[in-house]
Amino acid sequence: MPWTPRWLDDRLDLKSIRTALLDRRMPTGLTWWHTLGSATFAVFLVQAVTGIALAMYYSPSPDHAYDSIRYLEHRVPGGALLRGMHYWGSSVMVVLVLAHMTRVFTWGAYKYPREANWVLGVGLLILVLGFGFTGYLLPWDQKAYWATEVGTNIAGTTPFIGPALVRLLRGGTQLGAATLSRFYSLHTLLFPLLLVGMVLLHIAMVIRQGIGARPRDLEEGAPEFTAERSYRDFYTTAEHKAKETGPPFWPEVISKDVVTATVVIGFIVVMAMAFGAGLEAPADPTDTTYIPKPEWYFIPFYQALKLVPGSMESVIAVGVPAAMILAILALPFLDRRSTRSLSRRPAAQVVLVGLLATGGLLFGAAAREPDVVTPPEIGRPLTAMERAGRALYRAQHCNSCHMLAGQGGDEDVDATDLTEIGLRHSVAWLHSFLEDPERFHPGTEMPSYGPPTLTHLEIEELTQYLSSLRGLPGTTRTPEFYDTFPPPARQETR
Ligand code: HEC
Repeated sequence: MPWTPRWLDDRLDLKSIRTALLDRRMPTGLTWWHTLGSATFAVFLVQAVTGIALAMYYSPSPDHAYDSIRYLEHRVPGGALLRGMHYWGSSVMVVLVLAHMTRVFTWGAYKYPREANWVLGVGLLILVLGFGFTGYLLPWDQKAYWATEVGTNIAGTTPFIGPALVRLLRGGTQLGAATLSRFYSLHTLLFPLLLVGMVLLHIAMVIRQGIGARPRDLEEGAPEFTAERSYRDFYTTAEHKAKETGPPFWPEVISKDVVTATVVIGFIVVMAMAFGAGLEAPADPTDTTYIPKPEWYFIPFYQALKLVPGSMESVIAVGVPAAMILAILALPFLDRRSTRSLSRRPAAQVVLVGLLATGGLLFGAAAREPDVVTPPEIGRPLTAMERAGRALYRAQHCNSCHMLAGQGGDEDVDATDLTEIGLRHSVAWLHSFLEDPERFHPGTEMPSYGPPTLTHLEIEELTQYLSSLRGLPGTTRTPEFYDTFPPPARQETR
């Protein structure tokens, strides 16, 4: 009968493929850390599926990108979950790749015969970071726009090719429609193609070479250097011996992989449901006061940049990452000792502790800096009037009494939180109130801002700004006004 498994097997010899994939013997001593690589692969599948679905709703132009995301978040059933999963998946991917690399490093598994696969793995890390960087721009909100502005500026500090590199990335001198098209193309065409090819090669090499045996199983009686002729024979025998008592891939090892992958995907779903992906006000290229926050895994890097004087910045910005990548790439070719246990590799211990400590310190320093909270403005770029009002709000120190988006305020003054003030009061009310609060609430602590303190135009600018404050960024709530006006001043009758 055609198309049955046996019919296909007769023609394609499927059994031998199955044997090669599933009936492999693994070395003894595999740990849960060994499931990180396959968990990364599982998250890659999540990213592929959610990414394809997202692309069906997304429109890569500055005029429509933001609205298409907002539509997805608020109107498409499951849209917020979808985007949340893609967002959290990207962070989890970075964590898993780094953790997997750390595991390979501590086990000395980058040494003979896996040098090439280590290099491929480093390429995958760079690609994953590239996905993060290009994906960050796509929602076209304030955070996306200004983080990309900063990121591409950093690329511009590269000696000699900097300016050309910025133009290449941005598709012009400024961030705009061309940039968005480029990033979208990289994020959804070039990078996925590269990633699929490299991931398949990476996995093919893992299957071909097998998982590395426990460090101590590869050390007893080993020649001192892996480059020695005799090391190959020693290695083949030792690996073979380690596999004699090891578990089969199917079903023992793969079931552990499935457990980790399930936990990781569960975590992504929970985070997506609990926190979503967030969406700030739409990108406003004229708003140069906005201070962007990079994606968390770039924070140590940005923090390091802040610590160096301006003239050194380009050295750190381009030199340090480049040197680090070169060092990681060259690692298997520089480190040719055959010792694999971390306990016998003091230099490796120093590097590992040094990297973790530096990362930790930089994260700590970043956490101690005051949080820059984006004001909860209406879902569109501010008008010139509103921006003038925002400047006045700062200049007049309204935040010395009032809270706005979790910032400012004075515990001793019972001033209203202004985060959602635009939802509660009409423009007419706000204008009159600012002009003469005493008329509304006799004995209030709110100072009067009517002339001569501020001009009528300035009060109107403040009013317009207040009216744009509508709660969390990207929300679509409609205002419900609760205005109560004081009774008109009594007219003297003659
Ligand atoms: C000295 C502290 C203080 C300063 C400075 C201050 N306010 Fe107020 N503000 C208050 C207090 C207290 C209230 C509550 C008034 C009341 O209801 O009696 C208030 C109320 C308000 C309200 C009305 C809120 C509501 O829903 O009733 C608005 C709007 C407002 N302030 C805007 C501003 C703006 C804009 C500035 C800066 C130009 C500013 N305030 C500066 C103390 C202050």
